[in-house]
Amino acid sequence: MSRLPTESAVPPPPTEPYRIKMVEPIRPVSRQERLAAIGRAHYNTFKLRSDEVFIDLLTDSGTSAMSDRQWSALMLGDEAYAGSRNFYRLEEVVREIYGFRYVLPTHQGRGAEHLLSQVLIRPGDTVPNNMYFTTTRAHQERAGAAFADIIVDEAHDPAADHPFKGNVDLNRLEALIRRVGPERIPYVSVAVTVNMAGGQPVSLANLRAVRELTRRHGIKVFLDATRCAENAYFIQQREPGYRNRPVREILREMMACADGCTMSGKKDALVNIGGFLACNDETLYQKAADLAVLFEGFPTYGGLAGRDMEAMAQGILEMVDDAYIAHRVEQVRWFGAAVAASGVPIVRPVGGHAVFLDARGFLPHVPQDEFPALALAAALYVHSGVRGMERGVVSAGRDPATGKHRYPRLELVRLTVPRRVYTADHLGLAARACAELYRDREAICGMRFTYEPETLRFFNGRFEPVAESPYFTTASSAAGP
Ligand code: F0G
Repeated sequence: MSRLPTESAVPPPPTEPYRIKMVEPIRPVSRQERLAAIGRAHYNTFKLRSDEVFIDLLTDSGTSAMSDRQWSALMLGDEAYAGSRNFYRLEEVVREIYGFRYVLPTHQGRGAEHLLSQVLIRPGDTVPNNMYFTTTRAHQERAGAAFADIIVDEAHDPAADHPFKGNVDLNRLEALIRRVGPERIPYVSVAVTVNMAGGQPVSLANLRAVRELTRRHGIKVFLDATRCAENAYFIQQREPGYRNRPVREILREMMACADGCTMSGKKDALVNIGGFLACNDETLYQKAADLAVLFEGFPTYGGLAGRDMEAMAQGILEMVDDAYIAHRVEQVRWFGAAVAASGVPIVRPVGGHAVFLDARGFLPHVPQDEFPALALAAALYVHSGVRGMERGVVSAGRDPATGKHRYPRLELVRLTVPRRVYTADHLGLAARACAELYRDREAICGMRFTYEPETLRFFNGRFEPVAESPYFTTASSAAGP
């Protein structure tokens, strides 16, 4: 692949604050194999085999490289069914880093979302969220709530260069409280950072204002803390007054604005599996713990092995290390700068965990009901062996009331950076692939469903191209690696 024409405009990548002790071989896959693979996968990158992928930017979830200390922690597993010492270690670390009193481990983040939704939501309630996340909203709706988006308008505009695009629009929240009544809002759900907006952070000033407003109305606040350390780093860098404060302290201040949180340990906590629900209210904890027995496991393991809890406790301590988190977020920013240098449209500013290609800007000739982001993710894979993920109309699903597609303004391909896994060279290759594909964008056509699942359709959906394209047919003449 050729070098980026404007590569000199991109600053040098940040230097890793770690060295590599163990490696996992990866294998380049030929274009012919990729064409066959994407057809077999029904053009859905979720359905590719990992062995068919060269650089896997599908997700940052469960894909982190654990540290030597985390691998050592696995050996300290106490696999007692009840009262494992690893649970008490996890509890101690969560209390120290997050500041919540009660900790309930779950198999992953959505397990915690399920428990929280079932315990707090009554049918007919409304749950305000700063944009949606797929599993979070699905659990809220499953418990009988209506979802209400209260994020600031800038979040829906890929070009709006706002430092805290994840912020809650306080006027919108207040209007909603007035309209439905505080008694029909069991909690406000605030994600830090906002995945679907592009990994965008929420400011501490905004979190404090949300706390203040909800306190006046007696409404709880729960954070989706999945990428809270990345959010804390953005506060350190962007919010006046925090430049010299450790990420660890900022994180505590964020959490102090909430009644509790759900956490997917698979992201910022640097483990391959795990999550938890944490809160300060004993009654809420007790109800969730009772439900956990049915869905997750006994409350001192919650679907995890003892060793997994020990590794997560260690990961939580590592995620708030200032040198680690600075490299993490700056590596993603560097990748974004490398992609954008060739004119490829991306969501700005670059978020904490991923670079998001703006598929509408990339493929203006593909209408949204032909799933431009899905088509772009499939074409990028065929062109380069780089796997990304659709985050657009397919992910948004159908409106349960009308049965129609929800058409999000953001139609994106997410190129997600696993933590401590890829070097700048890998990411440079992915950036060049985006630039080359952009030059040949007109050759990419849209898609239609051949099988549409009822929920979370991006996982299992099957598709076919609506027209001939060299990216989707084996008779390809287009050049590629
Ligand atoms: N909240 C957010 C913001 C997430 O990004 C995820 C998972 C979850 C909750 C659920 O956590 O997977 O541990 O059950 N996001 C993954 C992703 C799947 O690829 O973005 P989980």
